[in-house]
Amino acid sequence: MVANPFQYGAELKPSQLVNRKLEIRDVTRALLEHGRLFLIGPRRHGKTAVLHAACAAARREDAIVLEFDAESYAGLDELVRAVIAEAARVLKSDARRTGERILALFSKLRPVIQFNPATGEWSATISVDAGRQSMPLFIEALDGVARMACEVGSPVALVIDEFQKVIEWGGESAEGQIRAALQRHSDVGFVFAGSKTSMLNDMTLNPARPFYRMGMRHFLGPLARDEFRSFITRGFENAGHRVDPKAVEDILDVAEDVPYNVQALSSVAWDLLRDRRPSMLTSTSVRQALQLLISRDSPFYVTLWNGLTDVQKRLLRAVIQERGVELASTAAGKSHGLASSTVSKTLRLLEERQILRREEQDKTVRWRFEDPFFAAWLSR
Ligand SMILES: Nc1ncnc2c1ncn2[C@@H]1O[C@H](COP(=O)(O)OP(=O)(O)OP(=O)(O)O)[C@@H](O)[C@H]1O
Ligand SMILES: [Mg+2]
Repeated sequence: MVANPFQYGAELKPSQLVNRKLEIRDVTRALLEHGRLFLIGPRRHGKTAVLHAACAAARREDAIVLEFDAESYAGLDELVRAVIAEAARVLKSDARRTGERILALFSKLRPVIQFNPATGEWSATISVDAGRQSMPLFIEALDGVARMACEVGSPVALVIDEFQKVIEWGGESAEGQIRAALQRHSDVGFVFAGSKTSMLNDMTLNPARPFYRMGMRHFLGPLARDEFRSFITRGFENAGHRVDPKAVEDILDVAEDVPYNVQALSSVAWDLLRDRRPSMLTSTSVRQALQLLISRDSPFYVTLWNGLTDVQKRLLRAVIQERGVELASTAAGKSHGLASSTVSKTLRLLEERQILRREEQDKTVRWRFEDPFFAAWLSR
């Protein structure tokens, strides 16, 4: 039996990735050659997939890569403890010797590490009373990683996914402090990725801010249609289904080219056809798949919707009807009952909550749903 070729939510094998070759190459180089790289892209466009592929490639070249997703921690102190525990794991010496080495590397944090033989995992505690969100803790952790880089013979790199969290925790002076640390540590590679695109763009493109020209930037937008088109077509044809090219176009349109949504829709459509013979992917199968997906996620969308204010709800409807453009115009405001001052404020708020995202086009701005299926649910 052929397995469903469309994966979403799970980690992709390098062979399952469509394109992103350039990004993977540059991230890998940054990891191996002490580079600095920012990978910025809207949610669900494949940042983590690129990071994983590059980390795997760098590790194959014997690099030590410490990789973290800042969103999975509740504060800087937790992230710092994770950095120390991961350093202990990669040092690969016996438990007593590892404890001594970690203590020497991160001495100011006075770390105590523990090895759990049952899980094979290390954990760390630190005994400095600097407050949970204290930036100096994080800077100390960066310094410790740099000391480790001097000791070991292989390239060492630090990767932080959802990096904007670190800046949010660390407050106003965070960027300046991290910049100074990065400049001190020229023998560590640093790769930071994040999905708050407006915030990260401003952080890295605004000459007044510390990260301006700090390193290479990659913006991870949608995948090129022709490649995604043939990936989808192949996925169906390899399982013996025929494919109406119009249906593939429908998948990309409804999913607005967001890789996660394209894969989700393709996957559900593939399951629908699985046991049918003769079978053909048509616009009707895509419509059915979409209905299935949004009714499955309906409880989540209902909760999200009910948590919004009336103005926010109106604005989301306006985004759909006006296709996300010229929302602050008097005409749009009038027809949706929204004052233009309210529109900009509410747009920013919905962006902050990662419900909407801003897309710069030539001379205009287009607002889009982070999750195009939420828009589809709303349009039902
Ligand atoms: N290059 C790609 N080829 C094929 N599918 C992809 C690709 N990149 C991403 N996807 C699809 O999108 C999904 C989400 O990818 P990933 O988790 O890497 O995105 P992300 O940008 O890190 O998202 P988030 O901002 O939510 O963390 C993957 O599980 C996969 O289904
Ligand atoms: Mg991610």
